[in-house]
Amino acid sequence: MSEFIAELKRTHHCGELDLNAVGQSVVLMGWAMRRRDHGGLIFVDLRDRGGITQVVFNPEISGGSHSLAHSIRNEYCLGVKGPVEKRPQGQDNDKIVTGQIEVMAEDFVIFNPSQTPPFMLEEWIETNEAMRLRYRYLDIRRPEMFNALKLRSDCSLAFRNYLSGQGFLEVETPMLTRSTPEGARDFLVPSRLSRGHFYALPQSPQLFKQLLMVGGIERYYQLARCFRDEDLRADRQPEFTQIDIEMSFVDEEDVISLAEGMIQTIFRRAGQEVALPLPRLTYDEAVGRFGLDAPDLRFGLELVDVADLVGEAEFKLFSQAVSQGLTVKAVNGKGFSEGLSRKDLDDLTSFVANYGAKGMAWVRVRQNLEWQSPIAKFFTAAQQAGVNERLKAEEGDIFFFGADAASVVHESLGRLRVELARRFALTENKPLTFCWVTDFPLLDYDQREKRYVAMHHPFTAPQTEQLDLLAAEPLRVKARAYDLVLNGSEIGGGSIRINTPQMQQAMFKILGISEAEAKEKFGFLLEALTYGAPPHGGIAFGFDRLMAILTGSPSIRDVIAFPKTQKGSCPLTEAPGAVDGLQLLELGVCLEKE
Ligand code: AMO
Ligand code: AMP
Repeated sequence: MSEFIAELKRTHHCGELDLNAVGQSVVLMGWAMRRRDHGGLIFVDLRDRGGITQVVFNPEISGGSHSLAHSIRNEYCLGVKGPVEKRPQGQDNDKIVTGQIEVMAEDFVIFNPSQTPPFMLEEWIETNEAMRLRYRYLDIRRPEMFNALKLRSDCSLAFRNYLSGQGFLEVETPMLTRSTPEGARDFLVPSRLSRGHFYALPQSPQLFKQLLMVGGIERYYQLARCFRDEDLRADRQPEFTQIDIEMSFVDEEDVISLAEGMIQTIFRRAGQEVALPLPRLTYDEAVGRFGLDAPDLRFGLELVDVADLVGEAEFKLFSQAVSQGLTVKAVNGKGFSEGLSRKDLDDLTSFVANYGAKGMAWVRVRQNLEWQSPIAKFFTAAQQAGVNERLKAEEGDIFFFGADAASVVHESLGRLRVELARRFALTENKPLTFCWVTDFPLLDYDQREKRYVAMHHPFTAPQTEQLDLLAAEPLRVKARAYDLVLNGSEIGGGSIRINTPQMQQAMFKILGISEAEAKEKFGFLLEALTYGAPPHGGIAFGFDRLMAILTGSPSIRDVIAFPKTQKGSCPLTEAPGAVDGLQLLELGVCLEKE
């Protein structure tokens, strides 16, 4: 091979060349995407992150290069030098930007051969995800992955510029820290220097950002890594990234409008216009109408209260529910009757059972709005007419009913609504749909643990006008908290915080955290609040979720370079792994025998 290797400097990316470059000598570097032998000529599609260029090896131009080119296989890493030429008549490829030209190889180098890749990189063909994660570095060579990571990078630059322009400082906070309660289990790191003691990886930088406000930073942000040991789903990873924000001397409106500007900036960078202000729903409205606190507003199928219409019905399940003050609501599956077989209805009933529903009565609406259902006979004509009217019945509709405690009816019908939308493709080609959910309850009651828990986190301030209620009817107290929902996915959440030690202590007390425990776990925060802590509040966005939605990815794993599997493992590095006995000994950690 030539000295070419030593002095080789790339002149262009593989997606840059067009007819204007004809006649220029260029140097390209990248990977062989495919090689085709056509009699005398060898064609290689060379791919780098910029695109694809066809390279031609012609024995008449360089015999040496041509014969070596026979050995090129997929994913060989190559450098090629030669002139750009217009492709011969009829050979254009209008699928690629560089489809009108080709590079005639005068000289080339194989930087490194490649084993046969375990899966095809050419197109976005379905490949088992475990395989993609095992060979993630190959997977990342695919344009789809590159584009997702590029957009992620562009968006993070865009919001950093935006926040910096608004006077925000980027401040890093520790990874090795104390537990920060965000409702998940902690990942713990044993300390060698303080044997028997553990750091917790942060579930979020919540307490540090509040301390930064006490420290007078006033406007903080960070692209923060968060760690939560919880059951994983498509939109949950054990480590994920937040755009974390905190501001002093602000109220809800200030945080919301700052966040809206940032969201608009990010989406604009991704080529999508977001009209402001974003719509808002209160928590009660969201849950009452859509069943969930992260409502997908891209379709209807709202929950409708029918308790007043069925309280007298012969159908005991409903009339008794009403007399016991429980909730009876219905969803009208508009036009879905035909598309749902009896087996589908059984499947949907099992589906809602996962959310606590003991059953799910249904009614098919026939000609003249007649009911067809095992339960039809328990309703008078007038009762049926009343429900028909309220649900805006038309022939071909199917009603689904839930009768139970409000929380069960809401959760199960809310999930049913989303499942129906999935089955009937109601969200396809719908524009992005945002909404703020405000006025969350401050507390929830944990039936199992028999105690109150914070809906958001224990540092969230109650709404001031409801402070009096706190002792007597804590569940009625609303929080100064807000979530941002996009297409039914919670992409961000935050609150105005408690900023006095008295209020924070009172909150801990309601949550069943004793004074001693509060002092042990959060003493540093309580103390900081005694030194003139300013009023403050903030928000954190799930950056992975945002990017998954922006790239239309079904899972946040598609926008994370090296994600974990559903089981929290990394097939590439095989983390988590065993450690040797000596390391454990140093840490003073002893493993229980299986
Ligand atoms: P919260 O717990 O609501 O608030 O988290 C904020 C946002 O982070 C995203 N998110 C996740 N993304 C991927 N994987 C996960 N396991 C995961 N968990 C949460 C969600 C969520 O809306 N400190 C507070 C914020 C504040 O009060 O300012 C907090 O962490 O999109
Ligand atoms: P059953 O009387 O148990 O045969 O129930 C009659 C219908 O009511 C069936 O379709 C059940 O799925 C439904 N059903 C049972 N429990 C509930 C409930 N809590 N809410 C709504 N429908 C229910």
